[in-house]
Amino acid sequence: MTSIQSLWPTPGADLTDEQLLELYAPPAGPWLRMNFISSLDGAVTRDGLSGGLGDEADHRVFELLRRWADVVLLGAGTARAEGYGGMRLPEEAERWRVEQGLAAQPVFALVTRRLDLDPASPIFTDAPVTPLIFTASEAPADRRAALSEVAEIVDVGETVVDPAVVRAQLEARGHRRIHSEGGPTLFGAFLEAGVVDELCLTLAPTLEAGSAMRITQAPQSAPTAMELAGVLRGGDELLLRYTKSGGGDPGAGGVTG
Ligand SMILES: NC(=O)c1ccc[n+]([C@@H]2O[C@H](COP(=O)([O-])OP(=O)(O)OC[C@H]3O[C@@H](n4cnc5c(N)ncnc54)[C@H](OP(=O)(O)O)[C@@H]3O)[C@@H](O)[C@H]2O)c1
Repeated sequence: MTSIQSLWPTPGADLTDEQLLELYAPPAGPWLRMNFISSLDGAVTRDGLSGGLGDEADHRVFELLRRWADVVLLGAGTARAEGYGGMRLPEEAERWRVEQGLAAQPVFALVTRRLDLDPASPIFTDAPVTPLIFTASEAPADRRAALSEVAEIVDVGETVVDPAVVRAQLEARGHRRIHSEGGPTLFGAFLEAGVVDELCLTLAPTLEAGSAMRITQAPQSAPTAMELAGVLRGGDELLLRYTKSGGGDPGAGGVTG
């Protein structure tokens, strides 16, 4: 297993999975965490996919972060590009979650205005829990009808999806620890709406150039001050954790509510 060490705030030796999970324990919530990987020059993809950027340390943390999630939130663009399947965590993760008092599996929630998702995709056919789809009321009726067979469709805006309503809807369903795996358009919209509490960012040791997006994509700028919460190192990769300034104690951890 690739070794990961803490550099800050407490330098230390190689971390076990349990120690990593402890470090990444979100507050009892509500809490919305974004997880991304970027090259040193800000690219979020190589050849159109994020997978080419990450090494084993990133993959290890990527998987462990899902364990804390009540819900894994994803933009439809990422689901289509990365070919996501069902949000099914392995048995070991399931056991761990149950021990922590969490549901055995997180809910998978997708954000889409066009509802351009295939109902026959493993996202739906291999889903241990019925996925949620957040969309706009003007979304195409035929797609809505097809997808409502395999997912719960929630309207959260007229022409676009309102991130604040997505978050409120998730919280109302008891999904307080919201873990998002992107992508850039979703992150841009959620940042603009002021509903992001934390960014976990892996800095991959590579320079990419090219025309790849950066981690946020939005028509408007939305300056948001962040505070450093932790730095890990896995080989030449840095795993950074930033929380929104004045956004509460990220170290509260534990599952209490
Ligand atoms: N490096 C990384 O960590 C990382 C992480 C994630 C993704 N990526 C990469 O990012 C690329 C995809 O970028 P992307 O910006 O298209 O991803 P995205 O944000 O996942 O998807 C954008 C799509 O999501 C829906 N959406 C997002 N916000 C919305 C809103 N507020 N209202 C309505 N719909 C909304 C729309 O879907 P509809 O078009 O269906 O309406 C929109 O076209 C892929 O190449 C992927 O590999 C990289």
